[in-house]
Amino acid sequence: MPGNIIDIIANRSRLGPRQKSRLLWDVFRENGFVWTSLLVLYYFSSGIAEASFARLQSLKLKRNLPGTSSLGVNKEIWENWDWQAEGEEWTPSPEWKESLLRNVLRRYIPHGGHIMEIGPGAGRWTGALIEMADTFSAVDIAESCVRVCQQKFATHSNARFFVGNGKDLSDIPDASVDSLWSFDVFVHINIAEAASYVREFSRVMRSNSVGVVHHGTSGGLDGGWRSNLTSQVFRELLHQAGFRVLSEFQTWQDRGQEYPVGLYHDQITVFVSSAPADDSPSHMAI
Ligand SMILES: C[S@@+](CC[C@H](N)C(=O)[O-])C[C@H]1O[C@@H](n2cnc3c(N)ncnc32)[C@H](O)[C@@H]1O
Repeated sequence: MPGNIIDIIANRSRLGPRQKSRLLWDVFRENGFVWTSLLVLYYFSSGIAEASFARLQSLKLKRNLPGTSSLGVNKEIWENWDWQAEGEEWTPSPEWKESLLRNVLRRYIPHGGHIMEIGPGAGRWTGALIEMADTFSAVDIAESCVRVCQQKFATHSNARFFVGNGKDLSDIPDASVDSLWSFDVFVHINIAEAASYVREFSRVMRSNSVGVVHHGTSGGLDGGWRSNLTSQVFRELLHQAGFRVLSEFQTWQDRGQEYPVGLYHDQITVFVSSAPADDSPSHMAI
């Protein structure tokens, strides 16, 4: 993500001793002594931070550990995030955001219908989505995010916000969603939860609906506290659930300039739910 990213570890300076101990205990319990020791080493030693980071990520993949992307740790991190900057701390420039809205969000998410967002945070993309939607739903694992969004978008009677369990969409009825957006969320979600969400996509998304999901590519080896989800695994999950991948990209072009999706070779995947052969999506000018 953008250069001025607030590191997850830096954010922990906001936490009190009890929250810190709980977080450390969760990480220790879920990853074991070796991985946690490496994490602590990274925390205290900036000189060897990069080498240590690379080591723990490869160990995570090798031993199939959840790292910092388990449900429990994700909830703890995001519940306690300082949302005063409304997520704009991850926006590298106003031009990047405007270009992403124009060339990605508004290009692939069709106007109207029921638009759903997973992980709205403090609503960095939510306002644009609500404006386009007839009805809008968002699910976040953190109650703090849902509270912030409910206050921020209180005047929009077409918008509903739910606290989810981080892996299913139980508040969303079958075949009710026309388009789905998730940015800067699946980069933090491990394969198990991503697989569960993709199965839920196939339950809640209507035929011919479109999904736009930002995720990591290398399982965390490129940095940025990315989860173990790779582009290849995400593509396979979508295929298994019956989706068709329309586009995968790490950059986009706008008026002669190339913009990156994120700092760590992040990717956006655009997919559509399966539809009868003679019923191709009319809004897809890709
Ligand atoms: C880096 S923030 C991004 C927020 C917002 N999408 C943005 O771009 O500003 C990650 C968000 O994903 C949410 N999140 C993390 N794991 C989740 C999960 N398993 N299900 C739903 N939301 C999750 C967090 O609570 C947080 O709101």
